Amino acid sequence: MADDTWAGVADQFADDAYASVKGQVRTFVIHQQLLEHLPAPPATVLDVGGGAGHQSFPLAGAGYDVTLLDPSSAMLDKARQRLQRLPQEAQGRVTLGEADGEHADEAVEGRRFAAVLCHGVLGYLEQPEPTIDQLCGCAAPGGLVSIMAGNAHAGAVRPALERRWDDALASFDARSEIGVLGLPTRADAVEELSEQLLSRGVQPLRWYGVWLFIDWLDLSGAELDPTDSEQVAAVAAVELEAGRRDPYRRLSRIFHLVGRKGPS
Ligand SMILES: C[S@@+](CC[C@H](N)C(=O)[O-])C[C@H]1O[C@@H](n2cnc3c(N)ncnc32)[C@H](O)[C@@H]1O
Repeated sequence: MADDTWAGVADQFADDAYASVKGQVRTFVIHQQLLEHLPAPPATVLDVGGGAGHQSFPLAGAGYDVTLLDPSSAMLDKARQRLQRLPQEAQGRVTLGEADGEHADEAVEGRRFAAVLCHGVLGYLEQPEPTIDQLCGCAAPGGLVSIMAGNAHAGAVRPALERRWDDALASFDARSEIGVLGLPTRADAVEELSEQLLSRGVQPLRWYGVWLFIDWLDLSGAELDPTDSEQVAAVAAVELEAGRRDPYRRLSRIFHLVGRKGPS
């Protein structure tokens, strides 16, 4: 944990990426998708690799009790800064902890949660299986496991839209790339990840795309104004609908898989 790879990209990720139209859409779409499955608040949520809290702080705002774990002290500093901006009541519903996904159970001292989130993390891990074990283990019986990951079936999209045609041709079956943050990333196939959940007692419920049109516009160089809230809301509504249905969700470079742990 001494090597804080994320320190170098914490500002770029937590401030710049999330402030963009694409970032705002991601937060909105994932939040709505989660609300379709979460029990009514108050309920407990564990956010593994939660970073600066962009996905789980809105849940604290909605009344959920959030525990956020992350191994990067730079990302946790960002989370602490962002936490100050939440209403006092919501701040009191958030606990931050320094731990990686492989040691989540130990970090939460065996507590079990109504929902366990792991968004945008597995693709950065050389060995994701131990973290998947922990995600499924930390969910209470009947609890949710929510994973957001790169879509292995859409590998050619980014290089093609960036007009890197040789790379695009080589990317149809590729599972890894240097991602938009400049870090090596690996993509997952939703069917395989679903199998991995199932083998750990978590029944996949539904999967979604996270963004499509806004991502493609961004990759092809279109400028979108993140301060135009009317436009952001309109884009978000379209992406939410696209993420629910084929063929759009299959083309999204990011997918969101939600499963429910069986009663034990
Ligand atoms: C792309 S960010 C996603 C942050 C947050 N989940 C979100 O969606 O905004 C990836 C996060 O994974 C964290 N991370 C890196 N290695 C990890 C590990 N082994 N276990 C858990 N989290 C890890 C990083 O510190 C970083 O905060």
